Amino acid sequence: MTIADKPVTVLTYGTFDLFHIGHLRLIQRLRALGDRLVVGISTDEFNARKGKQSIIPYADRAAIVAAIRGVDEVFPEHDWSQKADDIQRFGADIFAMGDDWAGKFDDLAQYCSVVYLERTAGISSTKIKGQLIPRSDKPVA
Ligand code: CTP
Repeated sequence: MTIADKPVTVLTYGTFDLFHIGHLRLIQRLRALGDRLVVGISTDEFNARKGKQSIIPYADRAAIVAAIRGVDEVFPEHDWSQKADDIQRFGADIFAMGDDWAGKFDDLAQYCSVVYLERTAGISSTKIKGQLIPRSDKPVA
């Protein structure tokens, strides 16, 4: 899968908190778009600025995603504005995200292809967080 004999690099971003099947399926489909998959993981500080708080700290989220088959490299996402530089730094041919972001990154099409993949229905980190039962609420055996 090459463009003029160059391996195809796919770039994506996310928080990947409480790693779940939607994340795995997305990563598998992203990897199938090319030969190399590079994943930007939102830092805890960046999440805080977005009003998001992850349960799992950045270093652990990054280690988990890095260990998934098909992921070649992970790096921190510190800011909304770094994507154009990252595309050039990693030589990305395809920028791809789940379709909850459809249209949001179309301006990056001046640097590479921009693709939105269908999300896996019915699961998100937010939904899992909402389903967690606080320890004190667990029935006593
Ligand atoms: N994603 C997906 N299917 C899901 C959940 C997420 O394809 N069911 C994709 C998103 O579209 C994104 C990537 O996985 O491209 C990372 O998403 P992230 O925001 O970390 O995951 P969510 O589970 O959506 O987290 P949150 O609920 O905190 O928004």
